[in-house]
Amino acid sequence: MPFVPVMSKAVRFDQFGDIDVLDVRDVELPAPAAGEVLVEVKAAGINPGEAAIRNGFLQDIFPSTFPSGQGSDFAGIVAETGSRVNQFSVGDEVIGFSEERASQAEFVVVPAENLTAKPAPVSWEVAGALYVAGTSAYAAVRAVDLANGDVVAVAGAAGGVGSIAVQLAAQAGATVLGIAGPSNDEWLRAHGVTPVNYGDDLVGRLRAAASEGRIDAFLDFFGGGYVELAVDGLGVAPDRVNTIIDFAAAEQFKVRTSGNADAANAAVLAELAALVADGRLEVPIAEVFALDDVRDAYRTLEQRHTRGKLVLRP
Ligand SMILES: NC(=O)c1ccc[n+]([C@@H]2O[C@H](COP(=O)([O-])OP(=O)(O)OC[C@H]3O[C@@H](n4cnc5c(N)ncnc54)[C@H](OP(=O)(O)O)[C@@H]3O)[C@@H](O)[C@H]2O)c1
Repeated sequence: MPFVPVMSKAVRFDQFGDIDVLDVRDVELPAPAAGEVLVEVKAAGINPGEAAIRNGFLQDIFPSTFPSGQGSDFAGIVAETGSRVNQFSVGDEVIGFSEERASQAEFVVVPAENLTAKPAPVSWEVAGALYVAGTSAYAAVRAVDLANGDVVAVAGAAGGVGSIAVQLAAQAGATVLGIAGPSNDEWLRAHGVTPVNYGDDLVGRLRAAASEGRIDAFLDFFGGGYVELAVDGLGVAPDRVNTIIDFAAAEQFKVRTSGNADAANAAVLAELAALVADGRLEVPIAEVFALDDVRDAYRTLEQRHTRGKLVLRP
């Protein structure tokens, strides 16, 4: 049957700027080429990096051309396969990622290797929010090489990346101290994490929360001085500190910077999805927005107080 071009509502922006440059428009999608898959998107997570790209702050690392699409995370249903795609068929439920910043749309085309099967128990919202936050948490936790008995402190412990990382760190055998505001105390405790609120004398309160006063590793998912606090304040060895946001401090203090790019593949997505399906990983979904409400979704995200993930449902 000849492929009928798909019209898809998609997020677009034509210039760098604040949230108001975001628009939702009808765009025409090409047929999936050899090795590609067309997916009907059921959910697409949003991430702070996308706001930084939209503002033009990351033009040197992730250059944009206009009109620009937006979004990496998604989950959905296979609508069409290109030639030489054997592992997926029309109707399959999948989790995936776009490297073209195109996932915030009704349909997206990606290479088949960017997809993995969605386990039935994983909700669309969680599946669609798993890629950037999940792979970043996965890479960061591995970078600091946690072992049984280690104590790790995590800044931004209840955000998209942090909420996943604290659970992976606990599974690696570490005692986890989660730095967040008081509204997250209960969620952190329920996930085996000792909450430590940001604020005055954080170093002293972190030491007090660690049973022997010793902190072995530090994961920074917030920026704004946590790398210096880890190395100078807590005396954590630089090779056991990882930041995914403060690259200037990473350079200065010679700490690690493993993030999304270090685990950006479907095998890691499959591993994370299996943990969710088995009930060993919870990805909190703070709020779900219609695709048309993309501006509201970023308005909420850019407050920097989300617990877990915000998701668009086309
Ligand atoms: N390099 C990479 O590969 C990569 C990948 C993904 C993300 N990132 C970056 O990593 C950062 C985290 O991303 P995300 O998606 O997890 O963000 P997010 O979901 O927006 O993080 C929000 C969290 O930050 C916490 N927070 C607010 N003020 C804080 C403070 N002063 N100290 C500690 N925590 C505080 C909030 O806790 P309260 O509500 O309790 O205040 C909230 O739970 C972003 O800057 C993002 O751009 C980098």
